[in-house]
Amino acid sequence: MPSESSRKPFSESGRSAESAPGAPVPQGEIPLSVPEIRGNEWKYVKECLDTNWVSTAGSFANRFEDMLAEYVESKYAVATINGTSALHIALLVAGVHPDDEVLVSTLTFIAPANAIRYVGAWPVFIDAEPNYWQMDPQRVVDFLEQECRWTSGELRNKVTGRRVTAIVPVHILGHPVDLDPILTVARKYGLAVIEDATESLGAKYKGQMVGHQGDIGCFSFNGNKLITTGGGGMLVTDNEDWAQRARHLTTQAKVDPVEYIHDEIGYNYRLTNIQAALGCAQMEQIDDYICVKRGIASAYTEWLEDLAGLHPMRQAPWAESVFWLFTILVDETKYGMNSRELLAKLLEAGIQCRPLWQPMHLSPVYADLKPADCPVANRLYQDGLSLPCSVSLGESQRLVLDSLKQLSLLAGHQA
Ligand SMILES: Cc1ncc(COP(=O)(O)O)c(C=O)c1O
Repeated sequence: MPSESSRKPFSESGRSAESAPGAPVPQGEIPLSVPEIRGNEWKYVKECLDTNWVSTAGSFANRFEDMLAEYVESKYAVATINGTSALHIALLVAGVHPDDEVLVSTLTFIAPANAIRYVGAWPVFIDAEPNYWQMDPQRVVDFLEQECRWTSGELRNKVTGRRVTAIVPVHILGHPVDLDPILTVARKYGLAVIEDATESLGAKYKGQMVGHQGDIGCFSFNGNKLITTGGGGMLVTDNEDWAQRARHLTTQAKVDPVEYIHDEIGYNYRLTNIQAALGCAQMEQIDDYICVKRGIASAYTEWLEDLAGLHPMRQAPWAESVFWLFTILVDETKYGMNSRELLAKLLEAGIQCRPLWQPMHLSPVYADLKPADCPVANRLYQDGLSLPCSVSLGESQRLVLDSLKQLSLLAGHQA
């Protein structure tokens, strides 16, 4: 843990270039979100290495699936090489076809939008709601009810004429989307709901685990996630046929265990046993991690009450957030600097932080799509800043807060 004396001083300008996302955190810096490896990870991985079960077959892969299915109370789980591939397969098994349209949160990491394109479908970007920053369910309902037409047993976008087949609510930052209105309208029109729960494993919506309320849920175990397998993902569903097809597609669609016979285009998407071994060890500790994450969030929330212009993410009354990535909004007029200026100052001081993702409707990748009106996501993108919140954060959290206070003073405002 960095000591006070090892902290870099603030200056008027400049930033620490080494703090690029994904770069190893230099000694003395406070990372944004790093893995917590303190349980049976070494033991289980050694078991794989000792027994040569290093690849996609092996007991840990099945065990990891069972553990996750049980945890989110889902009937079936299929382990994948990452969360993006889980989303890709989810869209395929849910029956999304080329040229269909799929509603997806605009304020998200790009993976779910890209997965929609992988299957040849088109994303329709939905704005965030202002309170908890998640996909706005009213926007979903309005789009489906007003901008689409039910004709010959299909829902079609009135402007593009395309068939709408699925909704991908993304539970961002550890907090659930308000799912009920989305599920209701999806049932009305026979749309599949694929929850992107990659950032929110363990979060609950109205007392139920996210990932298990729509038709399929997807998780990620990337290095920055609540639990990690280095890289990895999981798809969960109660639909046996979909689970079987997902397993088939993730293992090259092989129909015979010995002969190389394949009945459709499959993918090499199955998680390895070594990664699953890590996953099993991480799952053993997940409740503890969530407890720590919630503690970090409540400490930030309490401390930031006294600091004008910094507004922490909140938890809806119907939600149990896991606060995966603790994020604040920076009000420039009250704090004295904007989110990017604060980002630069914190990086310079050795405190890793990140802006929110550029909303998908603004992404150059999707510039050819019909422009979407998403003012809430635009504002969240402009003002959002994620702060260090690793499970191992400990006393360093005080240093983050002290820096936020000092910078507020530096900007000429009273904390
Ligand atoms: C919202 C969201 N969806 C999907 C993914 C993709 O997961 P992975 O990196 O495991 O492919 C991520 C992050 O990594 C994410 O944040």
